[in-house]
Amino acid sequence: MSTSNTSKSKGPLRWLVTLGPTHEPIDQVRFIGNRSSGRMGFEIAKAAQETGAHVRILAGPCNLLQLDSCFHVARFQCAADLRKLLTEDWPNFDVLVMAAAVADWRIAGGQIAGKIRRDATPPTLQLEPVVEILGNLQSRNNQFVVGFALEPKDEVLASARRKLLAKKADCIVANSLETLDCEQSDAQIVWGDERVMTRGESTGFAAKSDVAQWIVKAISPAIAQKCRDC
Ligand code: CTP
Repeated sequence: MSTSNTSKSKGPLRWLVTLGPTHEPIDQVRFIGNRSSGRMGFEIAKAAQETGAHVRILAGPCNLLQLDSCFHVARFQCAADLRKLLTEDWPNFDVLVMAAAVADWRIAGGQIAGKIRRDATPPTLQLEPVVEILGNLQSRNNQFVVGFALEPKDEVLASARRKLLAKKADCIVANSLETLDCEQSDAQIVWGDERVMTRGESTGFAAKSDVAQWIVKAISPAIAQKCRDC
């Protein structure tokens, strides 16, 4: 694929960071969501900005103080919104950090109009899968994609390796379920050549801000190499 229409000769690397959950509407007042706080994406964005990168955020519904004062932020509610924003923005960036926790299902056929009443018979909700976003995203050879995986502890590495291929990512930041909506992370970085990076000697938990600094530092050489034509 041609890179000429979006290449730049010099200047800071451009990072696009997605974070937070998606809310898939049930009716006009209810949704299907998840417990993602958006914190890991926010900390990675801050760490990237400290390296001099230009950072833009695509944020789902979350309450991160300082998010809007620190970054250019576009908001999404559901996976379809996120997919639209990403499709528009990604060609103009070098690095994608796909930390958003995308819902897996939504109401089949779209949201139910109005408000389902409590005195109605309890509804049976028919669900359909949410379309895969990252695995279907078009990227250039000089763009770098960081996927995420949230897994039960004993399945972290096997699932991350599976997702690395399915998501067409350059690496996967793999976390155990315990990191959800928590101040700490036990992230490891899984690469296509079977390498697994852990912080120092430890695979234990540390503050997300520290883990984010480590992640940005750990992936920067590979980003520099892949995006060298930027
Ligand atoms: N993701 C995506 N589109 C989806 C679901 C997830 O782009 N419809 C992305 C997430 O942003 C993340 C990665 O895929 O970077 C892995 O997300 P995760 O929720 O761990 O995995 P799923 O693909 O949803 O699979 P499962 O829920 O079965 O683990």
